[in-house]
Amino acid sequence: MQLVFASNNKNKIKEVQQLLPSTIQILSLAEIGCLEEIPETADTIEGNAILKANYVTEKYGYDCFADDTGLEVDELDGAPGVYSARYAGEPTDSNANMDKLLLALEQKKNRVAQFKTVITLNLNGKQTLFTGIAKGTITEKRSGAAGFGYDPIFRPSDYEVTFAEMSSELKNEISHRGKATRLLIDYLNNIK
Ligand code: IMP
Repeated sequence: MQLVFASNNKNKIKEVQQLLPSTIQILSLAEIGCLEEIPETADTIEGNAILKANYVTEKYGYDCFADDTGLEVDELDGAPGVYSARYAGEPTDSNANMDKLLLALEQKKNRVAQFKTVITLNLNGKQTLFTGIAKGTITEKRSGAAGFGYDPIFRPSDYEVTFAEMSSELKNEISHRGKATRLLIDYLNNIK
């Protein structure tokens, strides 16, 4: 079975391929000749994951899965959420995004936040969504150099360090993306 991962991130694709039975072959967007940027114009994380998966299935005729992630901050009513990548404007800049968020939370007591990943799978005419959430808090300053995005200012619940101070193995075990991906993998491993 061939299944497109609506991504061109080689690491992400390899990681998922290694966790699947060899009967399922993961194809990247480049491999199916999809070289254009897929619109991400929805106003929710779920909506964008659905848009991306449907774009590939409708335009290229492949079964497909797509993911979308955002950071939801309680004090900011869930912002930056679906706009996490471009919170401080375009082109996307993680440092500017972190500066903007730290400023928005200056002097604020409630620093509760969560990362949410939604994966949409279109398979055999059926759509299924998988959601992974990592709860935590936004720190007052950056710590750590690993990871990407908001990792230096996100401290997951039950840990004393930020995502950027963890090994990629530990982050993957507890992260939003890790959880959503494992739900997808379990589902694919159990289809008859
Ligand atoms: P995407 O949907 O995976 O492209 O994620 C959208 C944006 O959310 C990224 O550009 C990052 O700013 C942020 N983000 C997603 N996942 C993570 C993470 O694991 N750590 C830190 N930031 C993340």
